Amino acid sequence: MNLRVLPGGRGDADLPGLLVTGAAEVVTVAGGPRMGAGQGDVGRQSADEAGGVGAANAPAVATWDGRIVGVDGLADLERQLISEGYPLDRFDRVDAAGGAVTPGLVDPHTHLLFAGTREGELELRQRGAAYLEILAAGGGILSTVEATRQATTESLEAHGRRWLDEMLRHGVTTVEAKSGYGLDLPTEVRLIDIAHRLGAQGPIDIVATWLGAHAVPPELRGRPDGTEAYVRQLIDEQLPGVAAHGRAVAADVFCEHGVFSAEQSRRILTAAAGYGLRPRLHADELAPSGGAELAAEIRATTADHLATPSEAGIAAMAAAAADGHPVVATLLPATTWFLMKDHHAPARTFIDRGVPVAIGTDFNPGTSPTPSLPLAMTAAVLNLRMTPDEVLAAVTINAALALGLADEIGSLEAGKAADLVIWSVPTSRQIPYWPAADLVRTVVKRGRVVLDRAER
Ligand code: NIG
Ligand code: FE
Repeated sequence: MNLRVLPGGRGDADLPGLLVTGAAEVVTVAGGPRMGAGQGDVGRQSADEAGGVGAANAPAVATWDGRIVGVDGLADLERQLISEGYPLDRFDRVDAAGGAVTPGLVDPHTHLLFAGTREGELELRQRGAAYLEILAAGGGILSTVEATRQATTESLEAHGRRWLDEMLRHGVTTVEAKSGYGLDLPTEVRLIDIAHRLGAQGPIDIVATWLGAHAVPPELRGRPDGTEAYVRQLIDEQLPGVAAHGRAVAADVFCEHGVFSAEQSRRILTAAAGYGLRPRLHADELAPSGGAELAAEIRATTADHLATPSEAGIAAMAAAAADGHPVVATLLPATTWFLMKDHHAPARTFIDRGVPVAIGTDFNPGTSPTPSLPLAMTAAVLNLRMTPDEVLAAVTINAALALGLADEIGSLEAGKAADLVIWSVPTSRQIPYWPAADLVRTVVKRGRVVLDRAER
């Protein structure tokens, strides 16, 4: 096996065009975000229908200057390229070798940047300690905050790079990265700055989210009014500073009984929206806390986790979707698994009620230390009872919608960014079927081969 991670793209990709041929199927997920009965309608073009892999008109993808030009049977696609004036000799050809081709995966929820590890909490939880008890005792998020504040920028950046490379190996081409382990303006800005720099280095694009409202910081916890004092500090100091820095595009709050109330979350997110930051919430992760209701009320871009939403919260999100303002239910089943919970987010209900569902890893050192979106896809199939096709839409076009990027990434259709993955299995339905296997053969980012495991 020849594994190459190529941040700048392959040398012979000096050619502006790329033709992906030899696929058993190309799954486009074209046609916009998926919800309701359409959640699992992924737009599959199969080589079988054209006479098999390698047949003259088997499905192929053409890209030019980092953009998709077309997806069609190879013979039809070449005719299209010629008629539109593209020089066929300026296309590099990549053989999918009978694998499936999908859009590059989008991880819509990670806590990418942190220092230290928390494997000891696993055993505490095995012995019955609850996640919020560990936090209240000064562990959990707070122990990561302490380690992160002390870490150098260089070490945080190197750590982020290491895990981004893992994500790329799992087929991910765009990642959301939250701050939230600084809980003071300088460290929060430092984390957002590192996220921006890592994204600028490529090949993975990074969308930065400010999560100053992740927990009340240690210096305020002793005060009876500590949470309220921190909420004021978030709104009056951190938010203006983060907005002036200009790199974060969204704001997130851990809205949960015992952390930030729905009322405090509303104030923080409304203020953030005033600075142009998209509102997002960690909502109803551990207990119904009014998060889903709030998300619908303020037209948040996403409500995340949603393992325990109230019926009223589900109804509010369904009504918002019916009104044309869908809040993306960004479900994180790897977290529920890692927290050893037996109650899961009601994905089927969200789908039945017309709410778009996205899936993310929630990569973080406490509740989901996995960089593998395909593993989260398996958990979504097993525990959320989503079909593999529904899950594929959840990690492509709907995850793009969660990041406000549905017009740019998340599907293979003319004009969109040429981000795609060639898998070493013949159908995308096998991605969640082989848990923890390495199934990525080739990753193309903006039309350039950035990871290649093919024997060439
Ligand atoms: O999404 N629930 C809040 N935040 C993270 C966990 C962060 C941590 O434990 O470090 C989550 O699960
Ligand atoms: Fe999270």
